[in-house]
Amino acid sequence: MKILVTGNMGYIGPCVIQRLRASHPRAMLIGLDMGYFAHCLTNAEALPECRVDLQYFLDVRQPPSWLFEDVDAVVHLAAISNDPMGNTFEAVTLDINYRASVELAKQAKKSGVKTFVFASSCSMYGFAVDILRDEKSLLDPLTAYARSKVYTENELQQIADKEFKVTSLRFSTACGMSERLRLDLVLNDFVAGAIASRTITILSDGTPWRPLINIKDMARAIDWAIGRDISDGGEFLAVNVGSNTWNYQVKDLAEAVARVIPGVDISINKDAQPDKRSYRVSFDLFSKLAPTYQPEFDLITTIKELRDGLEAMDFRNANFRNSQFMRLKVLIDLRNNGRLTEKLEWLNKPLMTASE
Ligand SMILES: NC(=O)c1ccc[n+]([C@@H]2O[C@H](COP(=O)([O-])OP(=O)(O)OC[C@H]3O[C@@H](n4cnc5c(N)ncnc54)[C@H](O)[C@@H]3O)[C@@H](O)[C@H]2O)c1
Repeated sequence: MKILVTGNMGYIGPCVIQRLRASHPRAMLIGLDMGYFAHCLTNAEALPECRVDLQYFLDVRQPPSWLFEDVDAVVHLAAISNDPMGNTFEAVTLDINYRASVELAKQAKKSGVKTFVFASSCSMYGFAVDILRDEKSLLDPLTAYARSKVYTENELQQIADKEFKVTSLRFSTACGMSERLRLDLVLNDFVAGAIASRTITILSDGTPWRPLINIKDMARAIDWAIGRDISDGGEFLAVNVGSNTWNYQVKDLAEAVARVIPGVDISINKDAQPDKRSYRVSFDLFSKLAPTYQPEFDLITTIKELRDGLEAMDFRNANFRNSQFMRLKVLIDLRNNGRLTEKLEWLNKPLMTASE
């Protein structure tokens, strides 16, 4: 079996590769990434990409024609991966997350790939707090990032058939320790603040709802999606991935962190504009389709895992919101230092043409 994982050099990717390496020991694992955050390692004992058989430094916007030769499954993680980046680089976000994702899937199908797993997001529900949203609920994408996921899902649905199984995993907000940790995610940010300055600064009024999931459980869900039978969900399946018990309000997350890490003050921004990105999500379908792949990590275990990981790094940077742990900051620095173009292409790198 040959599995191609795009975007494997980010936050979730190393964990996905680790999982697939363990569950498919004889598979050939191929990584593909631009390497925007390749240098942002966090206490990795070795380069995480040593676990893949082959690593391509390529742009998913320009996939070479030979890319999918003998590939059985594609896990497509590569993306501009949050709202702040999507707001700053809106056209690029739509180009990478939407246009290129759909083209990649079409090319994969044409080349005989059988399985395509897409990393989608529950953020497509937008403002949805009255009742739990399920997969049939109306979507309300409020940002370029969320729109890019909706547009892609819509087109993937047209491409899927019995020879090309597509699973769109609408992930909850990720959390947990990684060899390329991000601190621009709510729970990770709270634990970092608690460790570095004994303060959790909530930027909103604390009321927005967010479903969460540990990245190890995301990796297990991806593994399930690769192997799922078409009879479990159909040729195209969009499914919320998380668990009903992980629907939290932001202030509950902060309080949980303060219970695990003593002596922490929580500051809430009472004057904040209401955060419209607030959603409560039903994970019943995922629980029905994948009973043995349900999330195993709970909130407290994940907070402890982050605490231990940050302490092992001797983490003390109270100004981490302006550091290399923020994906947007890294991209802006690379662009301002003349490493990346406005379109987030590497400068001075010979690009392959599609025929090479
Ligand atoms: N982190 C979350 O909370 C979360 C939640 C739901 C869905 N997702 C989705 O999961 C996926 C992975 O998220 P992450 O947190 O690991 O993000 P990340 O930003 O850490 O990693 C994304 C990776 O994609 C690569 N990439 C970006 N553009 C590329 C291009 N044009 N060509 C090749 N590689 C490119 C980057 O270099 C990076 O390594 C994304 O699709 C994201 O939208 C993430």
